[in-house]
Amino acid sequence: MDSQIVIIFGGSGDLTKRKLVPALYKLYERGVLKEGFAILGVGRSNFSDLQFREGLISGGDYGDKRFFDNLFYLSMDSANPDEYSLLKDRLNEFKSGNYLFYLATPPSMYEIIPQNLKIAGLNREKANVDGVKSGSRRVIVEKPFGYDLESAVRMNSVLKSVFYEEQIFRIDHYLGKETVQNILALRFANSIFEPIWNRHYIDRVEITAVENMGIENRGGYYDGVGALRDMVQNHLIQLLALVAMEPPVLYAKQEFRDEVAKVYKSLKPLSNDDIPNRIVRGQYIAGEKRGEMAKGYRNERGVDEASHTETFLAMRVNISNWRWDGVPFYIRTGKQMPTKVTEIIIHFKQTPHRLFSCRDDCPEQNQLIIRIQPNEGMVLKFDVKVPGSGFNVQQVPMDFSYDKLAQLTDGDAYSKLLEECLNGDNTLFTRSDAVEASWRYFDPILKFWKENPNTPLYGYPAGSWGPLESEKIIEVEGKWTNPCKNLTNTNLYCEL
Ligand code: BG6
Repeated sequence: MDSQIVIIFGGSGDLTKRKLVPALYKLYERGVLKEGFAILGVGRSNFSDLQFREGLISGGDYGDKRFFDNLFYLSMDSANPDEYSLLKDRLNEFKSGNYLFYLATPPSMYEIIPQNLKIAGLNREKANVDGVKSGSRRVIVEKPFGYDLESAVRMNSVLKSVFYEEQIFRIDHYLGKETVQNILALRFANSIFEPIWNRHYIDRVEITAVENMGIENRGGYYDGVGALRDMVQNHLIQLLALVAMEPPVLYAKQEFRDEVAKVYKSLKPLSNDDIPNRIVRGQYIAGEKRGEMAKGYRNERGVDEASHTETFLAMRVNISNWRWDGVPFYIRTGKQMPTKVTEIIIHFKQTPHRLFSCRDDCPEQNQLIIRIQPNEGMVLKFDVKVPGSGFNVQQVPMDFSYDKLAQLTDGDAYSKLLEECLNGDNTLFTRSDAVEASWRYFDPILKFWKENPNTPLYGYPAGSWGPLESEKIIEVEGKWTNPCKNLTNTNLYCEL
């Protein structure tokens, strides 16, 4: 790989400091970033290179400070096409002409920046014209990709008028997580799961991604975006796609992404009657968390005090295809919950006939728990005979913990995806047809909420498991599984 210049629009922002620079540092440490690489932060704030570096150093644990000699900053208004001559001049100071543009800006800029890059000739790979060096051109677009279906379609069309699909990397950092990628290994590197991975053996699937933090200092971004756009339309539906997809013919960008897109296209559309019955939204109110009072969402900085933005969402999704017809997928996400956990539970069907009795810990259906984070691993729950007289059975776990193989650290997802992008491989990035298919499914929900402002938005105290009403949508099949922090310790009073 030749050396590359990573240009981060939104360079002075939170994402750059918290995720992107630490991820790039990991690539530097591993020698992935070749001699001559540079990282150019672009933003409106007025920083010198030195101030930019100093601001970032304080945000992480960096052993080798020489890395920061490769970081630079350009203060410009990226909404103004006239200022792109400044960018060109700055880029020409670097030897390499390979540019990776990272759009880490508010989504309102995702259409403007690419158009301005085009006006400046910075999208062209080959031409040595307009004072632009030749080299590779790639663009990473952060989520949320679009605000609704219409804006996603518009963004795709703008991006495609500037770059080829091959050059566009719509990032969803969940796809960079080892444990998320492992869903593919679990399903397609083993022969024992695939025969039972369907409506004949699986009763329901539960996907939970909850967090024990509020929105921190992101009120300005989050308010008006909400859980559906922030977590569900991308991360959660991506997890669902990996669980539900057909085996790709090859693990390659075309074949893998075809199967993901097929899942999105198979999501059973929701009618206006379905929406209030299958979806529960909530917003956190003040509550006690670990002995301390946490404020309510409407009192967070940058949030409208009459905000109707949801910070919790639980819903039932159905897939119309031969494999999954009739199997509900329950998905749930929320801020200010008791713990931070992402996990997928495959609930297998009950045995057709109960032969044995049980004592206190009565067996439920077999379960396969895929823990995405923390305490990464898997648990298979099955029934055994209780030793002793009589014939009672109880459920026991068989577990695998990822740390037996390697320590998985936070931030790896971004470095993994950045590396893939630097290599020009967009297998793990969302393709335009997939993002639109996913929006086609979620868009009616947003419209329904807009047209029916009285749709309940339940308050739930910070530190709780969300509105009790969320139990209603799952009650036919069971209850939500509220995970413990520790994967294998699943008793009622476990640590959160
Ligand atoms: C981001 C969302 O995409 O994902 C955040 O914008 C959320 O609101 C985060 O906190 C969760 O990511 P992770 O990797 O911590 O589960």
